[in-house]
Amino acid sequence: MNELIDPENSNAFKSRLSLVDFNNLGFGTYVSDHMLVANYSKGKWHNAEIVPYANLTLAPSTLALHYGQTVFEGLKAFRMEDGRISIFRIEKHYQRFCRSLKRMAMPEVPFDIFNIGLQQLVKIDKDWVPSKNGDSLYIRPFVFASEERFGVKVSEEYKFIIFTGPVGAYYSKPLRVKVEDVFMRAAKGGTGSAKCGGNYGGAFFPTQQAQKNGFDQILWTDGTPQLNIEESGTMNAMFVIDQTVVTPSISETILDGITRDSLLNLAKDLGYKVSIRPLSVFEIIEAHKKNLLHEAFGVGTAAVTSPISCIHIQGKDFFLPEYDRNSFCTKAHKLLSDIRYGKAEDKYCWNTILS
Ligand code: COI
Repeated sequence: MNELIDPENSNAFKSRLSLVDFNNLGFGTYVSDHMLVANYSKGKWHNAEIVPYANLTLAPSTLALHYGQTVFEGLKAFRMEDGRISIFRIEKHYQRFCRSLKRMAMPEVPFDIFNIGLQQLVKIDKDWVPSKNGDSLYIRPFVFASEERFGVKVSEEYKFIIFTGPVGAYYSKPLRVKVEDVFMRAAKGGTGSAKCGGNYGGAFFPTQQAQKNGFDQILWTDGTPQLNIEESGTMNAMFVIDQTVVTPSISETILDGITRDSLLNLAKDLGYKVSIRPLSVFEIIEAHKKNLLHEAFGVGTAAVTSPISCIHIQGKDFFLPEYDRNSFCTKAHKLLSDIRYGKAEDKYCWNTILS
């Protein structure tokens, strides 16, 4: 693939880097100087280029604004100990992106545009990659239906954009979560396993209600009488029960989390047993009664691991023991970070190191 950067464009503007408070990044506050844009029409992707980050001009009739044909990914780049930059599991994110696009009747983006485009974009904005431990450059690829037409139909035109932004920690304290018993995030045959915008928008109202009642996040179930756990907020859910790491299997209602997959590999390396199976809320209550529920946490790209301090189930609070350096989620988080920052061996070849 050709060089995607238009040198005239990239010289013509003033960097916003000096406006970034690297001591207080937050999540989603800052966007780096450039973005990649490609267009799809007449059955083909074309005109992939890297341009200065700027607003888009959209017709009010743009299809994505009405019927929600929009899919995104989220991955991260890290400043390694030796100053080089690593990007975590590009190919795995690409594969999930393609599956989400397919489910939403949207065209796949060629791997070259995704992979080389993303690496060139990170390179051109390399000074935006934070160097503080725990911080990273969040990379947001997305595709939306850009055809100007308000009839209900599959779009024939799309835009693919990647932008990036430096981010810090997602949650600052262990979470108090509520097992949701009115709303559902996903149903069999639906779009639950796709990273499409509607899945997130649909969760906002129930989450807002839970937050009004003093909870940080929702623990979603499958809505069956067994109340099997599905996800935690926007993350996969994991538990340590009797020294075994337990997590629900991936299904059409659960996102195939890349942090989830990575931590399951690391769990075995850390000497834990792993059990991937349905996990009922009632089993959690039982395990808690027997003092066997040691940990509960969410795992995702944004938060990496997010410990849960209390699970609220049908009107009752179930408190978890405090987390410390010997907790699985602390050890797994540290090992994963060490691999990404180049402090531990990358034996699974997860990192793409920029030259
Ligand atoms: C993740 O952590 O993987 C997410 O999807 C959260 C993102 C929507 C900010």
